[in-house]
Amino acid sequence: MEDTPLIVSPSILSADFAHIAEEVSSIGTTAAKWIHLDVMDGNFVPNITFGSKFIKDLRPCSPLVFDTHLMIDRPERYVEQFAQSGCDIITIQAESTIHVHRTLQMIHSNGCKAGVAIVPSTPVCMIEPILDMVDLVLVMTVNPGFGGQKLIPHTLEKVSELAHIRQEEEYGYLISVDGGVNLSTVADIAAAGSDVAVCGSAFFGADDRLAFVDKMIRLADGACRS
Ligand code: DX5
Ligand code: ZN
Repeated sequence: MEDTPLIVSPSILSADFAHIAEEVSSIGTTAAKWIHLDVMDGNFVPNITFGSKFIKDLRPCSPLVFDTHLMIDRPERYVEQFAQSGCDIITIQAESTIHVHRTLQMIHSNGCKAGVAIVPSTPVCMIEPILDMVDLVLVMTVNPGFGGQKLIPHTLEKVSELAHIRQEEEYGYLISVDGGVNLSTVADIAAAGSDVAVCGSAFFGADDRLAFVDKMIRLADGACRS
C-alpha cells in the first residue's frame, strides 16, 4: 500500500452548496479518486449537514468512489438508506453504536465496503476485535464536526499502530486520515502509513485544485521514499 499513490478524498463539507453539482464535478478534473461525504446529525457531533437524498441526487454527477462518513448516533438505522443512495464505502464511528460488528455486517450485506472511524480520544485497541472485517479504518485527526481545524499530532501514532497491525496480521484495510490534512501535514500523514487523505478546506480553498492534488500525491510519495 505504501507503494501505491496516495488516494485524495476531497470532503464536500467545505464546498459551496449553492453550486454543489459543479463542485463535485470539479473533483473529477483532478487526480483525486474518491469524494468524501460527511453526514452529521447534530447529536453525535454538534453540526448538521445532509442525508441520503442529497447523496442520491449527487450520484449522477460523478463516477468517483463515494466515501461516506457517518457521524450520526446509531447509524444502523440508516445503513440501508445510505447504501441505496449510491455510496461505495460507508464508514461508521466506533463510538456511535454499541453494535459496531453488526452494523459493519449490515453495510457489507447491503453491498458496500465497510469502514470504522475513531475520534482522537479513542484508542486503536477499541476496534481491534473488528479489524479483520473492515475495508477502511478512518483515523480522525481532529475532533469531528467542523472543517478547517488543526491536526492533532498524537493521532498519527494511531496511524502507525494500524499500519503495524495490518502488516502483522495480514489484514487488508486501507488507512484514512481526516481533519487538518493539507500541504503542510501530508508528508507526516503518509510517513505514518496512511493510504487515503481526506481534505476539505485545503482542497476547496486551493487556487488551483488540480495542482493541489498533484502536489499532495507528490509530497506523500516523497515522504514514503525517504
Ligand atoms: C470533520 C470532517 C472532515 C472535514 C475535514 O468532522 O469529518 O471530513 O471535512 O475538513 P478539513 O480538511 O478542513 O480539516
Ligand atoms: Zn469526514
